[in-house]
Amino acid sequence: MKILVTGKDGQLGKAFQTELGKFPQAEIRYLGRHDCDLADLDTLESILEVFAPRIILNAAAYTAVDRAEQEEELAFAINADAPALMARYCANHGASFLHYSTDYVFDGSGSDFYLEDHPVNPLGIYGKSKAAGESGVTEAFLGVTNPHARYAIFRTSWVYGEGANFIRTILRLAKDRNELKVIVDQFGVPTSAQWLAALSIQFALQDFPSGIYHAVPQGETTWYGLACAVVQQAQLSGVNLLLERDHIRAIPATEYPLPAPRPMNSRMSTQKLQKALDNLGLVSKFPQWDELVRAYVSELAKNQLI
Ligand SMILES: NC(=O)c1ccc[n+]([C@@H]2O[C@H](COP(=O)([O-])OP(=O)(O)OC[C@H]3O[C@@H](n4cnc5c(N)ncnc54)[C@H](OP(=O)(O)O)[C@@H]3O)[C@@H](O)[C@H]2O)c1
Repeated sequence: MKILVTGKDGQLGKAFQTELGKFPQAEIRYLGRHDCDLADLDTLESILEVFAPRIILNAAAYTAVDRAEQEEELAFAINADAPALMARYCANHGASFLHYSTDYVFDGSGSDFYLEDHPVNPLGIYGKSKAAGESGVTEAFLGVTNPHARYAIFRTSWVYGEGANFIRTILRLAKDRNELKVIVDQFGVPTSAQWLAALSIQFALQDFPSGIYHAVPQGETTWYGLACAVVQQAQLSGVNLLLERDHIRAIPATEYPLPAPRPMNSRMSTQKLQKALDNLGLVSKFPQWDELVRAYVSELAKNQLI
């Protein structure tokens, strides 16, 4: 089984490297920026033709949400053009394509959990480029009759793993500051890259039904709620922080303006994915977000990474 993983040095890419270590029988090729710049579609195409993967796990993306406002062309090249090319390869060669999208394709109005077929309405360039990626991937498979050609787009949110992320930022600041202001009116679900990678591999190895799926753990929180859970767990794990949990101040998003607008509501229903997993005979009960966050922070503490 030949598997191609892009974005090997990103949070999800690194999680794939760990998880795919459990499959020594697979022939895996990992692509980082230096192996293939995904803006270079000719090189990407020739890598696909020569390696001929049966599964592509596309963990690469342009993820600099604020910088994207100034780099629209590059964001679209990586988040829309490159995935569309990979999708066309899979559609034409009877391969499986796993691609990742984001809660930022929604405008975040209301307080309901978004379903997969809710109309997208991204607020910023990053979200627009990811929405274009979703369309490009979906269109590549339209009318394809090869039963081995399939795609899944996993929309996820608030990802943390090996790399820079909100949790690590909070922990860094908590060592130096005795007060912190964190946004309390944006709602979403933190997602462990390791959990998402393990789930993706299980799914990709099956004859899964093509489509868009929401892939986040159970529950919901705010950035403030997440920061509190992180600081509390770090203290429980014996980490010496300057910041006390009670000194995290809840502020509205309007008090922390950023170049790119963010959705206020990033809640996404995962029922469709859970049902699909159930039908495939896979574990369909998702863990609670805070269980995974606590395990992540404990692990960072154990490895003295805080
Ligand atoms: N992070 C989040 O909070 C979040 C939330 C919702 C959805 N998602 C989606 O989840 C997926 C995984 O995200 P992540 O957190 O793992 O992202 P990440 O840590 O930023 O990793 C993205 C990877 O893509 C690579 N990449 C970017 N531009 C490239 C180019 N031109 N050529 C080749 N490689 C390139 C980066 O390479 P370098 O390492 O060299 O920069 C990086 O390794 C993405 O599709 C993302 O949109 C993420």
